[in-house]
This record gives sequence, C-alpha cells and structure tokens, in this order.
Amino acid sequence: MGETRISVRSLGKVFPDGTRALQDVGFDIAAGETFGCLGRNGAGKTTLVNLLTTLDTPTEGTASICGHDVVARREEVRSRIGASLQQVALDELMTGREHLEFVGRLAGLGAAAVRAKADELVRLFGLEAAVDKMVAVCSGGTRRRLDLALALLRDPEVLFLDEPTTGLDPQNRRALWEWVRSFAAEGGTVLLTTQYLEEADELADRVAVLDSGRIAVLDTPSALKAQAGGKQVQVRPVDGLERSCVLGEFGTRAALDPGGDVIVDAAREGELLSVLGRLAALGVPQTALAVVEPTLEDVFVRLTGASASAESDNSTASGLAAIGRSLAGGTGRNERP
Ligand SMILES: Nc1ncnc2c1ncn2[C@@H]1O[C@H](COP(=O)(O)OP(=O)(O)OP(=O)(O)O)[C@@H](O)[C@H]1O
Ligand SMILES: [Mg+2]
Repeated sequence: MGETRISVRSLGKVFPDGTRALQDVGFDIAAGETFGCLGRNGAGKTTLVNLLTTLDTPTEGTASICGHDVVARREEVRSRIGASLQQVALDELMTGREHLEFVGRLAGLGAAAVRAKADELVRLFGLEAAVDKMVAVCSGGTRRRLDLALALLRDPEVLFLDEPTTGLDPQNRRALWEWVRSFAAEGGTVLLTTQYLEEADELADRVAVLDSGRIAVLDTPSALKAQAGGKQVQVRPVDGLERSCVLGEFGTRAALDPGGDVIVDAAREGELLSVLGRLAALGVPQTALAVVEPTLEDVFVRLTGASASAESDNSTASGLAAIGRSLAGGTGRNERP
C-alpha cells in the first residue's frame, strides 16, 4: 500500500431539512487500496460518496483527495477522480459513443486521444454491440457499464463506485470485480459502496459498516469474520435423532436455530474434530452434518440489524445470519467486542 489518497476527518452532514446523514466519519485510504462501504438503505453511503466527489459539501469535518481539500480545492479533486454514481445519469437520446466523446472532450482530451481511450473502454466493458445505440434502447446493465466506462475516461487516480454492480448479471459482475482488482493492483484507489457482502468480501482490503451515518466498525474482512465467531457445526433434523440429546451433550455451546437445526459452536482452535467425534459417538449420521463458517453478512446483520429493517429492500437475511443471531444469546461469543 502506498501513500494516502483519501483522508476523511470527523466528517458530518446535516441536510437543510435537519436530516443528519453522516456523523463523525473518519478514515484514510491508501493508494492501491480498495475500501468497501457497507450499510443498509439510508445509512449514509451515497451521502459520503457525494461529499468526497464534491457533489455536495460537508457540514462538519474535512476530507481530502490526493491531498486536496474537497471543499477548497474542488477542481483539483475533480481532475483526479472518477465516479460511477448510484443513479446513472445518461442522456437517453445520445449514443454511448457520443457520451464517451462528449465527456472526453469536456475533460480536455484531444479527439484522437478520446477515440483511442473510448475504444479501449468499449472493449474492456464489452460494449461493442451497444455503444452506437441510443441510451434509450439500452438495458440497465448496459447503461451501468457505459457509466463505468465514462468514470474511467480520464484515468482517475481515485475511483468512487456507488453500488456499481447493482443490476449487473453475474457474468458482468465478475468481470467488474476482475477489473477493479487490476485497477487497484496498478495503484488505483477505490472506494465502493455495496449491498452485497460477498462483493465487499471479494474486493475490499478494508470494510467500513455505516449505521445511521456513523462508522459502526472498520476492519479487514477477515478480522470482521473472525469477530463473528469461528466454525459451527450444523446438525439437521433426521429420523431417529433426538435433538435434545445433542443439545444436552454440548450445553451452552449448542443452540436450536429457527429452522430447527442444532448449531454447535466449534470456534475454538482444534475444536472442530472433537465436536464431529462427539456427534458421531451420539450416532448422528454424517448426512445430517454440515460445517459452516461465518460470513461478512453475519457481522453486518449483527451490527446493523439489517434483516429487521423495514426500509431495507434488499434481503440480507440468510440462514447463517439467523444462526448468528440465535447463537448470540446461547454462547455469548457474539458479544465479544
Ligand atoms: N437531500 C437530502 N435531504 C434530506 N435528507 C437526505 C437527502 N439526501 C439523503 N437524505 C437522507 O440521508 C440519509 C442517508 O441517505 P443516503 O442516500 O446517503 O443513504 P444510502 O446509504 O446511500 O442508502 P441506499 O442504500 O438506499 O442507497 C437518509 O436518511 C436519506 O433519507
Ligand atoms: Mg445510496
């Protein structure tokens, strides 16, 4: 990791109507680093991106990009960043190529340079078939990819991606992930927001979970997963198996989850084999067993209560998350700081 590219200190935003969207947000992001920003709907992710891309101004604190203050040095900041925003703003009556040329010229690139760069990006994002059609007839995924190409026209040092893969099919999502990885490997800095925990896990060197405008937690994905606990053994109900037997054998280290499975905590070093051995001794057949590991989703749900959110329109609840919650009371291990 290189020098600091994004620096944020005590950043806050209160909108004119009194809504507080961000409070006391602070972090540094280095060159070559990919930083993931997670949070349920309304947590403040887009507000943060808007402040850092100079589209809006903070009401508290400071932020700088490549050493330039986002308020005082707006133009310097703008010349170094690319952004693909949550609401893709494209002109319905222009073609993709016209967009690329327009934005390229606006950025001060010569006609030949724009053409060369546009061709490169069209290939990169597989836009060959769509780039000469009017945006009005393009699919949502195509619009998204065109918007990403536009964000890259100026070879930005810092890239902001606000839910970049929402609406992309799995193949295009994977392609974008690959591309983000190579951008970062070449020293590019990425701040991305996402609703997909898998995406943050795949891409981000560090993850901040925003909750009601504050950073609830900031760490590497692996540290966060470790915090959610280690391995668990899931015992599915099968004929002839007394679940009370399993519950009795493991005491407070086992719990019944809402789906009727018994979940046995095997987080401690070397414990997995002994748990499996004791289950075998109880006569539990192998077909009833599964070993599960915590995901970032468990951390996310625990910190933000996202699955209980009426505002959330993306389902983030999973069986594992439910297990995490049911165990939280049972073993106490989820209360570790
Ligand atoms: N212009 C505005 N005026 C008043 N409140 C606003 C404004 N823009 C956003 N908000 C509020 O600020 C909070 C944070 O919104 P923001 O769009 O940053 O959330 P988000 O994390 O991006 O959510 P999502 O996942 O839905 O995109 C929300 O409560 C939102 O309603
Ligand atoms: Mg948003």
